Amino acid sequence: MVRKKTCVFISGTGTNLKALIKSSREYNFPINISCIISSSKKANGLNYAKIYKIPYYILNINNQLNVESILLMLRENNISLICLAGYMRILGKKFFNKFSGKIINIHPSLLPKYKGLDTFKRVLKSKDKITGCTVHYVTDKLDSGKRILQKKIFINSNDNEKTLKAKIQKVEYKAYTEAVIRMYK
Ligand code: GRF
Repeated sequence: MVRKKTCVFISGTGTNLKALIKSSREYNFPINISCIISSSKKANGLNYAKIYKIPYYILNINNQLNVESILLMLRENNISLICLAGYMRILGKKFFNKFSGKIINIHPSLLPKYKGLDTFKRVLKSKDKITGCTVHYVTDKLDSGKRILQKKIFINSNDNEKTLKAKIQKVEYKAYTEAVIRMYK
């Protein structure tokens, strides 16, 4: 099996990145994490790039020269899948043109519910008893692309944003791995 070369985009702590890297080191996992892109040089997730010795780059989406050189790097490295993992910027049109149908994301709600930011706050305000996470294809419409996989968790009456986030992140790591396996089955 030839593993698909993959680039993971991050902005923050990178725990989903870590989970994907770990899965990618398992026998028969369909992708290999070839590079990491961060929207900030201060993202903690970059530590995983260093620990696991994976090349990383900083993407400044407002700098066209930088965008072009990142796109060139992705092409030269034959990247065929982009995984967004806590990437907090809107990807420009150029990425959608070049990687149409090849960009996926993980979102901390059961889409189509609670698209966008502040998910946990909105979930807690609702009367929902169940929430979860969704792995989906990325299109130019926010959190609206075709869903690949969802995982659910129960909301307890004493849950707060912190506990909800912790519970959801735990299932996110499994969801991202299972979604990637499902994509290439
Ligand atoms: C995840 O909870 C994901 O659902 C959302 O951003 C968070 C990123 O967390 N898109 P981490 O950087 O992977 O720890």
